[in-house]
Amino acid sequence: MCGIFAYLNYRVPRTRKEIFTTLVKGLQRLEYRGYDSAGVAVDCAGKDDKGSISLFKKKGKVKALDEELYKNDSLDLDLELDTHFGIAHTRWATHGEPSAVNSHPQRSDKNNEFVVIHNGIITNYKELKKYLVSKGYEFESETDTEVIPKLIKYLYDNRESDYVSFSTLVERVIQQLEGAFALVFKSIHFPGEAIATRRGSPLLIGVRSQYKLSTEQIPIQYKSGDSRRDIKNKNYINKVDSSNALHSVHDRMAVEFYFASDASAIIEHTNKVMYLEDDDIAAVAEGKLSVHRMSRSAGEDPVRVIQTLQMELQQIMKGNFKAFMQKEIFEQPESVFNTMRGRICFETNRVVLGGLKDHLKEIKRCRRLIIIGCGTSFHAGVATRQILEELTELPVMVELASDFLDRTTPVYRDDVCFFISQSGETADTLMALRYCKERGALTVGVTNTVGSSISRDTDCGVHINAGPEIGVASTKAYTSQFVSMVMFGLMMSEDRLSLQKRRQEIINSLLKLPEMIKEVLALDQKIKSIADELYQQRSLLVMGRGYHYATCLEGALKIKEITYMHSEGILAGELKHGPLALIDHHMPVIMVIMRDSCYTKCNNALQQVTARQGRPIILCCQDDPEISKMAYKTIELPHTVDCLQGILCVIPLQLMSFHLAVLRGYDVDCPRNLAKSVTVE
Ligand code: AGP
Repeated sequence: MCGIFAYLNYRVPRTRKEIFTTLVKGLQRLEYRGYDSAGVAVDCAGKDDKGSISLFKKKGKVKALDEELYKNDSLDLDLELDTHFGIAHTRWATHGEPSAVNSHPQRSDKNNEFVVIHNGIITNYKELKKYLVSKGYEFESETDTEVIPKLIKYLYDNRESDYVSFSTLVERVIQQLEGAFALVFKSIHFPGEAIATRRGSPLLIGVRSQYKLSTEQIPIQYKSGDSRRDIKNKNYINKVDSSNALHSVHDRMAVEFYFASDASAIIEHTNKVMYLEDDDIAAVAEGKLSVHRMSRSAGEDPVRVIQTLQMELQQIMKGNFKAFMQKEIFEQPESVFNTMRGRICFETNRVVLGGLKDHLKEIKRCRRLIIIGCGTSFHAGVATRQILEELTELPVMVELASDFLDRTTPVYRDDVCFFISQSGETADTLMALRYCKERGALTVGVTNTVGSSISRDTDCGVHINAGPEIGVASTKAYTSQFVSMVMFGLMMSEDRLSLQKRRQEIINSLLKLPEMIKEVLALDQKIKSIADELYQQRSLLVMGRGYHYATCLEGALKIKEITYMHSEGILAGELKHGPLALIDHHMPVIMVIMRDSCYTKCNNALQQVTARQGRPIILCCQDDPEISKMAYKTIELPHTVDCLQGILCVIPLQLMSFHLAVLRGYDVDCPRNLAKSVTVE
């Protein structure tokens, strides 16, 4: 999905070349999110003449944009700029094809008076465009974003007096916008100034200065009496005055600011960051950062805190692996351990999820649990539904966020709704969260991203602690989501006498899980040799049932998203009701047959497949007495308790999809058409 990065140096002299390098590097850190074009805007004037902005935009990779920047010999790359603000963006096409003109920054006019980078979608852009066109503003792109720079120019051109602050203009712009956005603005009328704002899309600001910032709090300036107005009512321009909204926190010291849609682009420069909240308008002018908003809602925190990020750069680097996805698959012994660390006491069998303990009574009283997510996060819900039903003795629904909303599913005050999301920013999941909140349900976030919208907007939650996941294909987040949900079940059943034996069995197995994952990862070469035989196939079916329906769905999703092969996760119980028609001598089928309550039924499915000349590859338990006698290819896995076996079974499928994608010559971390963080509906 789109990525925002911007850099402002105030009284920190940087050559133009250094500024380009910082901007391009910022974009490279965001490449993993998925994109199809990129662009930057910088000042192009000499030292004293601050009046013009250059745009560089290119379809394709950031590398191509980088080359483009250096082709341009009209800019003096060695020129040192004491203060400068540059903005950069990677775009993932939604409105209009990937092209230079549709990429960001989008501009107000041919003189680039205002330029803007945007993540999200403006849903009322057609109305705004119509209005602006009627006022004589010419549009050049097919994007929804372009209304934003045009609108700010319109407001600037029609300002009530000579002076109007940049943040006031932006505030007036966002009053008119509907949809989701994170925006960063730059203008020739406000040299050296930056404005950033958000609603529904993440945005954070990193600060690097010579002074200690760790405990710094930025008071918010509130304004009242200013409500949303019709753009056609020009009088509204006189009603807002934010000229005194700037609140100094840095008194004209040398300082650098980094703006980004995600921390991975900032962390190498500074670990001091401030997350913006919806409708915050952050302004940097004269090296001072201030935040203001329209009005204060009940219970709202009146300060924004500059916090210290714990994330290390090396955590997000690829190391010796070919791809982030491969690195993340191999990290699973540690990531799963980190999910459990400090939460399970293996001596006393106690499980405490700190973020949920105060809500446990309420959860135990609820009518049902609803687990909501998209893609892999949805599969983590499917994978743990059965054990949650058993341990909580509550009805559990698992829902795809988009479908849940399409159906306007009934939700009640005594429902508890879980929102599973690696990024914590997935638009469908976030909308489902708002939907459930409006209906009074208790909302629980299960995310991997501290400070994400879902983690902030839910009543309580669990951080899965898997560490940053960069590959678009989610791997370690799935296994950590899985473990988190199982831990929740264990916490809920602590006082149920009849469940103690079962709890003990699961807790013992969790203790051994990291070592067992290592055993599975040791099968990598064997899995690669199977991939060598399969990579030219067009399709690959993955079949199983019970606890492993989720394994099949997740395995098939991994295969389709990075290998572009057709792949389906099939519930073996449904075989006779349709999928059996696909089976013949040519169709590759992976079958998951583990020693659990579905073992016999899965063997029946195997018979049905082999009777149609199918040649299955079987994921089974080590030394399975029946299957080891058969003449089929097997991947033999260590055996664990039934409800955790899905963690061990999904890893060979993650590895298989990785090897297939490499053999087919595809970019494993950035599959075509996909994005890491899906912040649009
Ligand atoms: C998984 O490999 C996918 N990239 C995708 O299905 C992902 O899980 C989905 O978009 C949800 O993302 P989230 O966990 O960040 O909410």
